[in-house]
Amino acid sequence: MSKPLEAKPARIRTLEEYHAAYRQATEDPDAYWGAAAEAFTWRKKWDTVRGGEFSPAGTSTWYAGGLLNITENCLDRHLAQRGNKLALIYEPNDPHTRHLRLTYRELYQQVCQFANVLKNNGVQKGDRVLLYLPMMPQLAVAMLACARIGAIHSVVFAGFSATAIADRVQDAGATVVITADGLNRGPKQIPVKSVVDEALLSCPDVRRVIVLNHLDWPTHMREGRDVWYHEEVEGVEKTCPAEALAAEDPLFILYTSGSTGKPKGVVHTQAGYMVWADYTFRNVFQIEENDVHWCTADLGWVTGHTYCLYGPLLAGATSLLFEGVPTYPDAGRFWEVIDKHQVTTFYTAPTAIRSLMAAPLDHVLSYSLSSLRVLGSVGEPINEEAWHWYDLHIGKGRCPIVDTWWQTETGGIMISALADVTPSVPARAGLPLPGVLPVLLAQDGTEIEGNDQEGYLAIKASWPGVIRTTWGDHERARQTYFAPYPGYYFTGDGARRDENGLFRIIGRVDDVINVSGHRFGTAEIENALNQNEHVVESAVVGYPHDVKGQGIYAYIICQHGVPATEAERKMFEASIIETVVAEIGKIAKPDKIQLVSGLPKTRSGKIMRRILRKVAEGETTNLGDVTTLLDPAVVDEILAGKK
Ligand code: WTA
Repeated sequence: MSKPLEAKPARIRTLEEYHAAYRQATEDPDAYWGAAAEAFTWRKKWDTVRGGEFSPAGTSTWYAGGLLNITENCLDRHLAQRGNKLALIYEPNDPHTRHLRLTYRELYQQVCQFANVLKNNGVQKGDRVLLYLPMMPQLAVAMLACARIGAIHSVVFAGFSATAIADRVQDAGATVVITADGLNRGPKQIPVKSVVDEALLSCPDVRRVIVLNHLDWPTHMREGRDVWYHEEVEGVEKTCPAEALAAEDPLFILYTSGSTGKPKGVVHTQAGYMVWADYTFRNVFQIEENDVHWCTADLGWVTGHTYCLYGPLLAGATSLLFEGVPTYPDAGRFWEVIDKHQVTTFYTAPTAIRSLMAAPLDHVLSYSLSSLRVLGSVGEPINEEAWHWYDLHIGKGRCPIVDTWWQTETGGIMISALADVTPSVPARAGLPLPGVLPVLLAQDGTEIEGNDQEGYLAIKASWPGVIRTTWGDHERARQTYFAPYPGYYFTGDGARRDENGLFRIIGRVDDVINVSGHRFGTAEIENALNQNEHVVESAVVGYPHDVKGQGIYAYIICQHGVPATEAERKMFEASIIETVVAEIGKIAKPDKIQLVSGLPKTRSGKIMRRILRKVAEGETTNLGDVTTLLDPAVVDEILAGKK
């Protein structure tokens, strides 16, 4: 066995240590999190560990007064001992294309060069830089380059549409965009730069687009605005001094969906996020020096930010980035990659597991998977069947599974087993990490005591990774997270504390749908649908989906009523799907569309979603009280036309 990564005060190795750490972090958080931060490189140490007002103001601060740069902690700090250790392994979409490996020293040099290119292009501390890129090493490099000079990165998953990009550019006030010519996803090649071009038609403030050459595609470059990275980087210095940033300076903005309005820009800051990413990564996965960690998330999501990039690099570990998809060229791709790069800690989403379970087992049995040590799950509840398949066929019954519950807003893992240290039970996220004080609330906001209880999941005290604000609109953050139940951070999830005190996450209690681990607001999809000229009104609900966890079910009132012919219906549906793809992206395509002549509304005009949800779930008999409906006959029509 290799030795654990450098002993820091807050590394937990036994159940007793967990309980002791939990107690200390609860009773004396300042001492505990002060000690956890000692091992990092600071330009200036903090004045106060915790500050601000957690709730209802939602103005937490961590390590205020401190000065630092997260890239010095991800890179420079490791050079002496780990300069020649692999920082990143990049496995491309196509197994026949050569993979790439970057040592800590090489990554350091590339980040410095990219940072210098940004500076040469006028990017300054505090500027917002939007990244719309495929999973390629330069995406990781570009994120770190922004952080090196104090620019705020906002990565947008390269499956979002031009409209979605434009919304985010405008909301963040981004002036520089980094993108690539195109991307590979499974058997498909997708243009990327042209999507950006379309988005920027409505973003006049973007003055520079830096383009990476990924596929050697002929690409339109707009004179005066667009530059090729490979031309800009020629002859550029491989060192770049890191900007000393205040602990509470923003590090990144990441857009995520809520129950109302447009996606909001979740803001994380320098020091608290750094400590939380490092601490949760090392403890949950029990990381050791020789680990090769593979988090299959795209860097465009928070899981990619914290567990492909920042967590592993802060810990000095080796992180594998994968460009492809689980099923290309076949359903054995994940397992092939694990054997090829001797992956030890593997972190993926239940939706991927469920899609691979459906393939013949031969795809798994062709590989040894003997390098694996820890398996992780994230993004949505993992059902027991998927848990057992993962345990038996991938972990071969010898790898602990960590089912990690957290959110974009929490910065890192909040409730999870620590591998082989705290209990791992199917369909339970488990115990909270030290510093996390979860409670179950009743609807009226009172705390539900005891085990074997269910309620709204809320967090009672600040932790280093807590969301600091929503970009440009603190009141929105306050109203969404910190004001609904004063004194708590409200998660939007429902949970059960089982008879042993382990948490089971039930799912969202708000109007957010979790599709393949990606969040969408029902209102957000409805707004998109309503852009279609044929759509008068729409209502979107989630329903259980075998692979995606939840699917998107859209009820739509068309302008000319319910189409008379099958051909007409197909045409409407195709046009409606096209609108959603244009407004949000392919990932938000409704799975089912039902064209209706009316929606079940109360006399005051409120849509009764409860009924729509039940019908979508396949419940047809027990719809509850429908007498308050304006027109109860609508329900019969909806039932008759159910998809
Ligand atoms: C859900 C992803 C059950 C939950 C890190 C949460 C989970 C939302 C789990 C956040 C889990 C995440 N078990 N549900 N292990 N992990 N969720 O912001 O509903 O993309 O509120 O962050 O995903 O999604 P987000």
